[in-house]
Amino acid sequence: MKVLLATGKPFAMQAVEGIQNIIEAAGHTFVKLESYAGKSQLLEAVKDANAIIIRSDVIDREVMEAAPNLKVVVRAGAGYDNVDLDVATSRDICVMNTPGQNAIAVAELVLGMLIYMQRNQFDGSVGREISARRLGLYAFGNVAKMVAKIARGFSMTVNAYSPTLSHDDLRKEGEYGVVTVYSNKELFEKSDFVSLHMPLLPETRNCVNYDLLSLMPRDGVLINTARKELVVEEDLLRIMEERPCFQFITDVMPVRHEEFLSRFPKRYFSTPKKTGAQTNEANINAGLAAASQIVAFFQNGDEQFRVNNKS
Ligand code: 3PG
Repeated sequence: MKVLLATGKPFAMQAVEGIQNIIEAAGHTFVKLESYAGKSQLLEAVKDANAIIIRSDVIDREVMEAAPNLKVVVRAGAGYDNVDLDVATSRDICVMNTPGQNAIAVAELVLGMLIYMQRNQFDGSVGREISARRLGLYAFGNVAKMVAKIARGFSMTVNAYSPTLSHDDLRKEGEYGVVTVYSNKELFEKSDFVSLHMPLLPETRNCVNYDLLSLMPRDGVLINTARKELVVEEDLLRIMEERPCFQFITDVMPVRHEEFLSRFPKRYFSTPKKTGAQTNEANINAGLAAASQIVAFFQNGDEQFRVNNKS
């Protein structure tokens, strides 16, 4: 089988070598398309691929139609909103992700960016400590759990709310030392910092709006390492205008980045390029997991991490 690694944002070299070794040791052919300039290059590369490993690369109808032999797409990472699952199902293509493999990297970034901004971008002025402050986790998957673990090490109070876990389920997550809250409103009310950890779904799009944000303390901080579409940008701009101490920290650059930056230069920080999963370790974990999942899929039909429906 021909396995294509198609990554607009390339993995670390060690991860690529590991992926290649796993694919070739199983008798498959490995090809890669890294840092490609445009969609036409991707369309050309997928022509004879049986499997594709991607990151945030968009796999839509056009790409799948250009790949008549495609059987499996593995998103080496957590979020798969970049793949059209319905089209994949209709074409009998299995889509998988590699949940949890880059959780530590993203979680470390959440705390790193928070400290950076609470210390006023290290400009030498008087900042704030995060110890004993209240961190709210909106959703409680792999990344949020890791954030909780690290935050507890900083002696933070960690509140968690998940729209998908029952309260009993959340309470069972005791090992992470989180306080369960019962609604998103309660989460925003009771947290100094709110960190977003839900996937982008029709029901989560624009879920962080003015009403929720206005429940936070006046010097609250919103942290987004998930997806930009979760936040209503106009509402956030309005909150930041109304509250001279409110901060917004993000690893997913908003559409109105320039406006945030020019209006609130000391209270807004965005990474220039999504960097949460960009560590050697996370690249290796997610990349090798993706390669192994493809091998298992072709070897024995293993679909353990399948995220789309079957046709
Ligand atoms: C994910 O969903 O796994 C993260 O957003 C990382 O995405 P990336 O692989 O594009 O860095």
